[in-house]
Amino acid sequence: MALRDIICIPDPRLRQKSAPVRTVTPEVRALVADMFETMYAAPGIGLAAIQVAVPLRIITMDLSRQEEPKAPRVFIDPEILAASDDTVPYEEGCLSVPDYYEEVLRPARVRLRYMDLDGKVHEEDADGLLATCIQHEIDHLDGVLFIDHLSKLKRDRVMKKFVKAAKRAAE
Ligand code: NI
Repeated sequence: MALRDIICIPDPRLRQKSAPVRTVTPEVRALVADMFETMYAAPGIGLAAIQVAVPLRIITMDLSRQEEPKAPRVFIDPEILAASDDTVPYEEGCLSVPDYYEEVLRPARVRLRYMDLDGKVHEEDADGLLATCIQHEIDHLDGVLFIDHLSKLKRDRVMKKFVKAAKRAAE
């Protein structure tokens, strides 16, 4: 296992669409192990492969509370089959948009289909934090960031801040 670098906005790779995995190879397993190590170290509750610059449709997640045992979950080629009409607000953050949190409205419940690390396909109904988090992460696979769900004014403000910081870091 190895820690990988998490890429941040305005890195253009975060805007690309990730490709389906279809077959779980040893390389995919190694990537998933690295993603968990990177996610736990950050620390974060969810990570999409593109955030470590690999454009594959893979998500790692652990929504357990601090005092609970770890509950790692992997979603390969995840799809949202259906979403509820009612929405819930949740204050979201993202490892690729560090230290920025803003409320986002998303469907409260979704029906998911995904593949596990053994290549087995599952369907599952998600609500609560899982529903919010999986929608945030699937967005990453399509090059969408949570800031895209905010008003243009807020998004422009945060983008400007990160572009400036990236310029400063490159000097
Ligand atoms: Ni994110």
